[in-house]
Amino acid sequence: MTTLGTPLSPHATKVMLLGSGELGKEVLIALQRLGVETIAVDRYENAPGQQVAHHARTITMSDPAQLKALIESERPHLVVPEIEAIATPMLEELEAAGTVRVIPTARAARLTMDREGIRVLAAETLGLPTSPYKFCNSLDELQAAIDAGIGYPCIVKPVMSSSGKGQSKIDGPADVKKAWDYAMAGGRVSHGRVIVEGFIDFDYEITQLTVRSVGADGQITTSFCDPIGHVQVSGDYVESWQPHPMHPAALDKSRQIAKAVTDNLGGQGLFGVELFVKGQDVWFSEVSPRPHDTGLVTLCTQHQSEFELHARAILGLPVDTSLRNPGASAVIYGGVEAQGIVFDGVEEALRVPDTDLRLFGKPESFVKRRMGVALARAADVDTARSNAKLAASKVKPREA
Ligand SMILES: Nc1ncnc2c1ncn2[C@@H]1O[C@H](COP(=O)(O)OP(=O)(O)O)[C@@H](O)[C@H]1O
Ligand SMILES: [Mg+2]
Repeated sequence: MTTLGTPLSPHATKVMLLGSGELGKEVLIALQRLGVETIAVDRYENAPGQQVAHHARTITMSDPAQLKALIESERPHLVVPEIEAIATPMLEELEAAGTVRVIPTARAARLTMDREGIRVLAAETLGLPTSPYKFCNSLDELQAAIDAGIGYPCIVKPVMSSSGKGQSKIDGPADVKKAWDYAMAGGRVSHGRVIVEGFIDFDYEITQLTVRSVGADGQITTSFCDPIGHVQVSGDYVESWQPHPMHPAALDKSRQIAKAVTDNLGGQGLFGVELFVKGQDVWFSEVSPRPHDTGLVTLCTQHQSEFELHARAILGLPVDTSLRNPGASAVIYGGVEAQGIVFDGVEEALRVPDTDLRLFGKPESFVKRRMGVALARAADVDTARSNAKLAASKVKPREA
């Protein structure tokens, strides 16, 4: 049974978000609506989620001592990781000591904090289909892995990175050194370790949002959202839509894979399972134990967005994953390097029929930083996609 408190009172239900970007911001808003007291943590001040939470804290989340001190002083009921770069062994320690509950579990946060734990779990422990892969610590090891069977084309990614940072495709021997150097420069923590994956020539890729929530019988139940299709450019999402049409056999396989992975990771919450599909074949790619960037589209397509689903699931409340109408999202990049930018064209964007916008409020813009997203709903996905892209193109970020 879930009992919720009153925020800023002695009986508040307190939730701490570790990472307070655009996805965390929407989770925080969903929690606020349920009267949860929220603590938004990030590595820099005025992060998007910090602007809507009751409390804002700025620490280095990869530093175990800082993380422990903060959790022990705030004493939240739940700790909700929103990013990967967190001192997850410390979360496991605090969870084991009964200090806090980590969403979905501290083990899931650790296994998904880099590409290695989750890939080994999916491919070797669970036996799920993935691209052929190898982990390498040097340029020589990378070349040897390619020669020994990964072959060309292949993809190299830093073990610790996201949004395509440091990731590149290798088409032949001439690209190997370039890809290695690029990965070394782009990894979040430069451990000098990469994964090389055989290139999967998929027809399309999807995100299968999967929710583990408490059912009426008190047991954990798994529910699925409609598949989300998306386009990635250099490993970063630029456009997504829902529903993505799928052959029933491929959809069935996708959900079996999603269920196997999320059952193993356990706990409560929403997961974004990334899958590659070719005909009726499906490959597991990766999973986020939290809302997924391509799932921003659910803000305009589902009765409960992925953020509301996450908030409800972690609090032990019932969820409804049903689709309301087709829709699409299109990313708005900063396009400039500047602080405190302004956005022209918002009015023109919102004149595109059935659209909406999220401007994240990030204090600093980079050329390739995601600063906002346009959302469009329509009777069909094609119309939604073109309207979302049109609306996004009308928004012009510029230096103030
Ligand atoms: N083995 C692969 N074969 C083909 N495309 C891939 C492969 N791995 C990644 N990609 C492409 O790159 C995108 C980003 O890769 P991903 O592993 O999801 O990295 P990130 O953690 O940065 O999201 C994928 O969504 C897909 O479009
Ligand atoms: Mg991904």
